[in-house]
Amino acid sequence: MTSIHSLAIASLLATAVAAQKCALQFDGRVPSTLTTAGFDATNQFFSSANVLGQGLKFSELIQLPGGTGSLFDTNTVPVEVTISDKSIFNGQTGFRRAELLPASNSGTDPSTQGVKTLHFSVMKDAQRPLNLSHEYQLVFLESNDFSTNQVVLKTGTILGQATADPDTLQLFGNVNANPPQVLFSTPFTAGTFLNFAVTLDFNKLTSQVFFSQGNAPLKAVTQAIPNDVSGQGQFHFGVLKKGVNGSGDTTKNGVQEAGIDEGIIFGGIFEEDSSAGCVSLSP
Ligand SMILES: *[C@@H]1O[C@H](CO)[C@@H](O)[C@H](O)[C@H]1NC(C)=O
Ligand SMILES: *[C@@H]1O[C@H](CO)[C@@H](O)[C@H](O)[C@H]1NC(C)=O
Repeated sequence: MTSIHSLAIASLLATAVAAQKCALQFDGRVPSTLTTAGFDATNQFFSSANVLGQGLKFSELIQLPGGTGSLFDTNTVPVEVTISDKSIFNGQTGFRRAELLPASNSGTDPSTQGVKTLHFSVMKDAQRPLNLSHEYQLVFLESNDFSTNQVVLKTGTILGQATADPDTLQLFGNVNANPPQVLFSTPFTAGTFLNFAVTLDFNKLTSQVFFSQGNAPLKAVTQAIPNDVSGQGQFHFGVLKKGVNGSGDTTKNGVQEAGIDEGIIFGGIFEEDSSAGCVSLSP
């Protein structure tokens, strides 16, 4: 190994260490002292107003399952978002949905400006499995004019697409691209947290994906891929279940079978400033 290679590796290690000190844009890692009722009141972590079924409160759908935290939950706890037959938001009868929105993320705030890295971990709940005949959106950035999702983590049977194995997590770029590109996909392995980070360059309009399983440090799994992340907006973390056999406006027209009791466990939701190249690969 030449000294230049050694230097390159030393500087990579230095970046990984320095990564612990990336400035935070928002932090959705919740302490064990926050109760489910705490999600109903104004709090520093997530919006208490959106997104949930009409007439519901977050305390009726948030679960605090305990158990081992995700990679970046060194001192914080997992949060589960569940849906039921009542999870009808804003007259969208084709969907069942509930999502957490970071409290500071207004749609025009700095979380969608400059260069930022979004972190989140997801895990299945064996007690509340999804129905993989449906398409689900688990994490997405929805543009401030609601015209697109610039990045979206999906699972299940994707509408309008041949899905080889619906038990897969597929991270799509801007869904208004023709066709939308899959930035990264991975089996939705049960019983462990799957950890993602996505560096969103709102100047160069690119996305770079990092991934790991369990407590392994994140690794880059793509380069910075051209992806139109313009349009600002809000980050959503939860379960948005689309109907089957819908046509036209899928917010209204899909079929949803009754008896829904489904959820996804989240951990390590935060966003950091990567304008100087800082990306946390481990806590
Ligand atoms: C899964 O969804 C499909 C389509 O709505 C439905 O036909 C099927 O009964 C559902 N399965 C379960 C176990 O709920
Ligand atoms: C969806 O359409 C298919 C094909 O027509 C049908 O077999 C299936 O029962 C429908 N599913 C629901 C939940 O209506």
